[in-house]
Amino acid sequence: MYQIIPPLLFIHLQINYGLSAIIIICFIFILSVGFGYLFYNYYLLKQLVVVQNAVIKQQIAATTGIIHAEENERRRIAGDLHDGVGQLLSATKMNLDALLERLRVIAPENLELTTKTIFMVDEGCREVRAIAHQMMPNVLLKAGLVPALRDFVNKIESRSLKIVLEAVVLEKQLNSNTEIVLYRVVQEAVNNAVKHAGASLLDIQLTIDGDGVSVTVEDNGQGFDTSKRTKFEGLGLKNIVARVTYLKGTVDISSSPGMGTLVAILIPLT
Ligand SMILES: Nc1ncnc2c1ncn2[C@@H]1O[C@H](COP(=O)(O)OP(=O)(O)O)[C@@H](O)[C@H]1O
Ligand SMILES: [Mg+2]
Repeated sequence: MYQIIPPLLFIHLQINYGLSAIIIICFIFILSVGFGYLFYNYYLLKQLVVVQNAVIKQQIAATTGIIHAEENERRRIAGDLHDGVGQLLSATKMNLDALLERLRVIAPENLELTTKTIFMVDEGCREVRAIAHQMMPNVLLKAGLVPALRDFVNKIESRSLKIVLEAVVLEKQLNSNTEIVLYRVVQEAVNNAVKHAGASLLDIQLTIDGDGVSVTVEDNGQGFDTSKRTKFEGLGLKNIVARVTYLKGTVDISSSPGMGTLVAILIPLT
């Protein structure tokens, strides 16, 4: 049995098919454009991340280079000062002492000038040694971070500034490079407290365990406004951040006027 399709219905069906095809093609086109757009955005984002990572890597490499160069230079200058100028001044002082011994008969006004000169040479010797020591403390290289910090703190403590240093070391010694960088960071934080805080108490806590290193330097001084960008334009705080970043750690500087300052550093040990 044949069913005869009326021509009008046939045309109607043909138009419907045509329309559906156009709609489907449009839909596929819109979908492709949408996916294409999304994919392009994803690609751009990926490129951006790659560029950002490259910039960060370059910055870290530059900081590492600067820190290494700075430490090498400090070591060299400290060595030259101690072994060069320091030794020369010591020898000069010994010669002057010997000369004074030989010149038995000496007019009182000359004697005073001579002893003053010897005293000044001696002072120069001590100062050169102190500068060399501050640049690269021997005890840091020989005995490590904690003895070096104790030594540093003992030299700074005074009647008006009490310093508490507590160190808990549960992990084996850190590598020498990490110790030097940490020493510099604590040295700067402590120097800042001495220079700017007018504090009466300084508390330094150091913990080295399996997770990493935690250091806090806290003073009860006048504090400062950490939201002021100018405070971070000097070398000290900037260097603290650069050095801690170099060790892949984090630093948090909390302070406000009248509330003291807390510098908290965390270095993960991998
Ligand atoms: N412990 C602190 N107490 C009070 N002010 C501080 C302290 N540490 C830093 N500051 C403020 O932050 C500024 C920037 O410090 P820093 O970068 O070390 O530079 P500098 O010590 O050479 O001035 C200081 O000039 C001071 O105003
Ligand atoms: Mg400073």
